[in-house]
Amino acid sequence: MKAKFSSKIGIIAATVGSAVGLGNIWRFPAEVQENGGAAFLLIYILCVFLLGVPVMLSEFSLGRAGGADAVGTFRKLTPGKPWWLIGLLGILASYIILCFYMVVAGWTLEYMIQSITGNLYQPVDGTDTAGSFTARMSQYIQSENTPLIYIYIMIALNLAILLGGVKKGIERISNILMPMLFLLLVIFCCVSLSLPGASGGVTFFFEPDFSKITPTVIINALGQAFFSLSLGMGVLITYASYFPKDSRLGRTAFTVSVLDLLVALMMGLIIFPAVVSFGLENESLRGLTLVFVTLPEVFNQMEFTTLWSSLFFLTLAVAAITSTISIAEVSVAFFQDRFRMSRAKACLCVLLPTVLFSTLCSRSLAAGSSLTVAEMTLFDFMDMLATNVMLPIGSLLMCIYAGWVIPRRLMLSQLTDNGTIRSHICTFILFCIRYIAPPAIIAIFVSSFL
Ligand code: TRP
Repeated sequence: MKAKFSSKIGIIAATVGSAVGLGNIWRFPAEVQENGGAAFLLIYILCVFLLGVPVMLSEFSLGRAGGADAVGTFRKLTPGKPWWLIGLLGILASYIILCFYMVVAGWTLEYMIQSITGNLYQPVDGTDTAGSFTARMSQYIQSENTPLIYIYIMIALNLAILLGGVKKGIERISNILMPMLFLLLVIFCCVSLSLPGASGGVTFFFEPDFSKITPTVIINALGQAFFSLSLGMGVLITYASYFPKDSRLGRTAFTVSVLDLLVALMMGLIIFPAVVSFGLENESLRGLTLVFVTLPEVFNQMEFTTLWSSLFFLTLAVAAITSTISIAEVSVAFFQDRFRMSRAKACLCVLLPTVLFSTLCSRSLAAGSSLTVAEMTLFDFMDMLATNVMLPIGSLLMCIYAGWVIPRRLMLSQLTDNGTIRSHICTFILFCIRYIAPPAIIAIFVSSFL
């Protein structure tokens, strides 16, 4: 018997768990900052609903119709044809993402523990507190061995959850962790919005300056939307194969996208008011440094530093773990279905090698490391390859497959949940899958090389 999620809430919690991750918490605010604030936000929202939802629905339809892992689904729907290679590409890409995502997931755990012990807020030898968070970050992230311990703990936690299986592992842990994550974010929003001068940050985030919209901004918004919704790698095909036959695809895709957007919005309302309130707008706000340097700076200036800091990094670790299990599940399902392995064996086959690859990835960040590819650290190279190259190619091929290869009738029966929802909305969605998403994705892809 194929494993299934057991409830509507479970389906939503697990899928939102996959979507909400480091992408929402550190990538999104950094992108907003770099692409002109509210104008970017507006385009991002359009991308989520006009492109993200249709592509998500293609993956859901394929997964529920095929009822198998990312490769098996293509084999069942188009037997004897090489389309399953799309699934294989997704599995490979998701594995690469898994290895470097696990490294960042390890840092979140390290920061959480160091916040609880208070070490994060002790001045680093030889520096005053002002520069100390940059020094701390290099100490935590770039040293040879300390980050590894936390990465291994993260891998062990993933293993424990995945061994529990789809229902007792993934679904149960998501049902507990996701509400907790939302609660923590709401608390942080309230704290941040009540800081003196917070309104400056809110204005930056919500008042669009339309002159800031350029082709690059649009393309960055698209890329962010796809990453944040976990599209293009077979994650959602795999999860949808665990949806019961009578689940509601449209409603699920809409709810997941709205909740994912909500988390991104809350993060904006947490970070920008805090940064403006403490006058840190001019510091370099980019990706990792935003969360790992600027925010500790903010916490350090607030009351109850240890409490806020520990809770925040706990939130981050929770978001990371529900995403890593979804990324790993793509490969676990593949091993189980293709090679008829037991769940335990499949989990070990997937997670044991990540110990090696994540170690290499983490080591490549140490000062003077020779682990470089094409003049990038191994870490950056894997990020670039998976996020900028394999993810758009995967999403594009999936849209072409769902829109043009499999029979229109089959897609419509999935999209309408076997005729239970009005078909003109579904026809519109199919139109987006066929004619709007593919050219838009090609645009993201080509522009990333310009
Ligand atoms: N969506 C997650 C985030 O925002 C990351 C993620 C999980 C992902 N699964 C994925 C990204 C599959 C791309 C493809 O952090």
